[in-house]
Amino acid sequence: MVDYEVTVYTDDRVNASTVNPVHIKLVGTNGDSERTWLKSLIIFRGSVTTYTVSCPNSLGHLVLIELDKWQFFLLPGDAWFLNKVEIKSPEKDIYIFPVYCWINDSETHRFREGTALKVFDENSSIGQYAREQELSQRRADYRWNSYYPGTPHAIKADGALSLPDELQFSFTKTTEIAFSTATGLAELQLKGLLDNPENWESLDDINDVFRHKGTPLSDYVQEHWKEDWLFAYQFLNGGNPTLIRRCKTLPENFPVTDDMVFIPDGSNLSQELTQGNIYLSDYKNLDGLPANIVQGIQQYLTAPLVLLHKRPDDKLMPIAIQLKQTPAEDNPIFLPTDSTYDWLTAKIFVRSADFSEHQLNAHLLRTHLLAEVFVVSLLRNLPMVHPLYKLLIPHTRYTLHINEIGRIRLIGPTGVFTNFAAAGGRETMLKIMARSLSSITYRSLCIPDDIADRDLQDVPNFYYRDDGLQLWNIIFKFVQGVIQYYYKNDKKVARDSELQTWIADIFEHAFLSQPQTGIPQRFTAVPELVKFATMVIFTCSCQHAAVNNGQFDFCGWMPNTPATLQRPPPTEKGTTSEATMLQTLPPINVTARGMATAWLLSRQSSDFVPLGHYPEEHFSEAIPRQLQKEFKVELDRLSITINERNKSLEIPYTYLDPKNVENSVAI
Ligand code: FE2
Repeated sequence: MVDYEVTVYTDDRVNASTVNPVHIKLVGTNGDSERTWLKSLIIFRGSVTTYTVSCPNSLGHLVLIELDKWQFFLLPGDAWFLNKVEIKSPEKDIYIFPVYCWINDSETHRFREGTALKVFDENSSIGQYAREQELSQRRADYRWNSYYPGTPHAIKADGALSLPDELQFSFTKTTEIAFSTATGLAELQLKGLLDNPENWESLDDINDVFRHKGTPLSDYVQEHWKEDWLFAYQFLNGGNPTLIRRCKTLPENFPVTDDMVFIPDGSNLSQELTQGNIYLSDYKNLDGLPANIVQGIQQYLTAPLVLLHKRPDDKLMPIAIQLKQTPAEDNPIFLPTDSTYDWLTAKIFVRSADFSEHQLNAHLLRTHLLAEVFVVSLLRNLPMVHPLYKLLIPHTRYTLHINEIGRIRLIGPTGVFTNFAAAGGRETMLKIMARSLSSITYRSLCIPDDIADRDLQDVPNFYYRDDGLQLWNIIFKFVQGVIQYYYKNDKKVARDSELQTWIADIFEHAFLSQPQTGIPQRFTAVPELVKFATMVIFTCSCQHAAVNNGQFDFCGWMPNTPATLQRPPPTEKGTTSEATMLQTLPPINVTARGMATAWLLSRQSSDFVPLGHYPEEHFSEAIPRQLQKEFKVELDRLSITINERNKSLEIPYTYLDPKNVENSVAI
């Protein structure tokens, strides 16, 4: 007889223990072991326990293990979260079998040895069979659903709790969210704000909504929100840094002339356009769409054009705003020299348009919904033993769960966005997302290309760009190291049929097979795969952090980013006042719900996993594990650099500090 030492690592999370008998079978190239009981009455959470499995002869190279957890007669069935199994063979070889999932039934589950294998590397029939079975089961478990026409497809599910257990939030995260929601709403209820449909009587009253919940930045925004420089700053480093671009020629529908705008130092608009000092934010995506009706009152959504000037002192300042796309007498071009409330009202309409553009396009579509397709495609097409699965799976955590919640609580029929945002009507929401999807390009998802295409390489004080490019480069280097280790030449990429079905699924279900997006439809070379995988990780982690984490900072003080407006934009100058501004801003209950949502969505969970941290050990080989360590070291270094830089900034830019970037779209 020969003995195999089998060490079982059970996770430490709540409810991970099992009282059910567990059996294991080892499968090797020279045969199988008996199905052997792991002799424990209880396998405790957080435990590491070694058992012996005896066989008449060596099993050769171990290919997989089979595990089953049997519900014993009178004992209740339970769920067991197993991290990994480590096996020491009689030949003293160590085999690691990553699991990282809940086992909550009595079925037999197969887990492959951790060395990554591409489909054409499989040289055992049992390995090939296990691979096919795994994918066949996954394709049955994870099916596509066309949720909204013209938008990326989603997983077919009946709410978050119908998802497989390992895709759901942990007990810790669920409890924290429930507690924050309950306490946040209870506070607003106690103050009588949630049911009060009246308009605000003064700006000071708004301060009472979440008086002690402000962040340093939301407090700062409250103090400075009327100032032009902060209005301009937000196009670069606010919650939505994705719209602004350099403008060399004015759009035909934005007829600003030299004599309209004041440019210091004797220059004029024409010269500044030529010299590359003019920038444009154009909300044409929102044009011509009916705004929501909230509590029986018609709301207003505009599609503004904003012109900005980079002054010699490197400050970006707004110089002209047109609130509707078509130039007309009743669509004035507002200027900083207009009356205080004309100019402030114009800026409020821009910020409110930005709320819709930011939430529906930059945040929901370009991170949450794309990430969902990346996750489902990964699960449907790549088995656990595939190197790309091992590389990308940490960047998928909780994404399907948060998206299921969002589809119900934010954009579902009774969701906060649907009920209270200017763009919340179903038809409008759908059109904005469909328009946004049809204008997505592969280049716009890759920050070096995006910055070049928006011609923003040299705009000063653009920290989203500075930190984002550094992060892209660090991720790229890591991904390149891993992929080049597994794919020694282009031929290996081209002949990996699983990789090809993965990208084909993404092209079809994320980008609705639109070739003008430039999204690859198949991979033919290693660099193509490296760039695409870098984009996936960057989108799921950094890009999401950039557009998610500042929600309360910039929306916490409602007048800075109203979710909706309840008076039409002014059609002539000289008709605004403090009173019209207060009538235009959303009423008390809409404000309270918007601020509560932004607060909740900006909170960091205690089981947050920062970018580059890999608590699950999917890779067994030394080189990818070493690359993971180096990746983390580089991210730590960048974090120090960003912190140093931030010390000298009036507003520290923290959203892309790697310590604040979560590995995946998880909130
Ligand atoms: Fe988010």
